[in-house]
Amino acid sequence: MTEQTTSTQKIALVTGANKGIGYEIAAGLGALGWSVGVGARDEGRREAAAQKLREAGVDAFGVPLDVTDDTSVAAAAALIEERAGRLDVLINNAGVTGGMPQEPTQVSPEQMQTVVETNVIGAMRVTNALLPLLRRSASPRIVNMSSTVGSLARQTAADGSTGPISGAYSPSKTFLNAVTVQYAKELADTNILINLACPGYVATDLNGFRGFRSPEQGAQIAIRLATLPDNGPTGGYFDDAGPIPW
Ligand SMILES: NC(=O)c1ccc[n+]([C@@H]2O[C@H](COP(=O)([O-])OP(=O)(O)OC[C@H]3O[C@@H](n4cnc5c(N)ncnc54)[C@H](OP(=O)(O)O)[C@@H]3O)[C@@H](O)[C@H]2O)c1
Repeated sequence: MTEQTTSTQKIALVTGANKGIGYEIAAGLGALGWSVGVGARDEGRREAAAQKLREAGVDAFGVPLDVTDDTSVAAAAALIEERAGRLDVLINNAGVTGGMPQEPTQVSPEQMQTVVETNVIGAMRVTNALLPLLRRSASPRIVNMSSTVGSLARQTAADGSTGPISGAYSPSKTFLNAVTVQYAKELADTNILINLACPGYVATDLNGFRGFRSPEQGAQIAIRLATLPDNGPTGGYFDDAGPIPW
């Protein structure tokens, strides 16, 4: 028989949890005593991460999950259903930059498609597949990992403070922001709170470890939004300092 979570124990699924910020979100939620699904597409990386989390005392289990693949996402939802019968928290963390170049005149259609397929459609695909299980939770939360580079207000600020030209990655996060606002509108009459998190500039594979924050620091805003009280915000866009301008 498949191992089950105890009914009062919270259960979360983190996509792209085999490394970087996603791994630390899983570790942080696990430290709260939650059962955490380590969503990852590569079997070796997934099981190594789940094993490392278990060795650290986390009730972690691997969830095979490629966010760009309908069949994989459906199987992940079935796995969570069989294990716990519900989902309390979904963290849509998996993301890619699409690599270089990022000048919009140089970005290929295929590059753009990969970034949007992963960062936007992937989050929607996973959310829609898991929503039936989230609806069974007493306090469901969805956190979409965005970035301040998705902020049009910051992108167009006079000080140009949001970094280099980013013709695929930044627009994908703006798109994710827009989609999340629409989810919040549709789910306004439910107990589901859905918000966007920006982790800051974090040293991970995504940026060749150029970030100046640790993955553990980057995970904190997602953990906070995953554990919001029932009267918490929905449809918001936050980093550690508070709301981010759209
Ligand atoms: N690092 C930063 O400064 C920063 C700033 C703002 C926002 N963010 C966002 O934070 C999130 C995590 O990024 P990170 O910095 O921790 O990057 P990372 O270390 O590169 O981790 C990205 C994760 O996403 C996974 N992933 C990519 N495509 C996937 C797919 N199709 N299906 C399932 N998983 C997939 C990766 O899996 P593999 O190992 O299999 O590739 C990996 O686990 C991303 O959404 C990113 O945009 C990061």
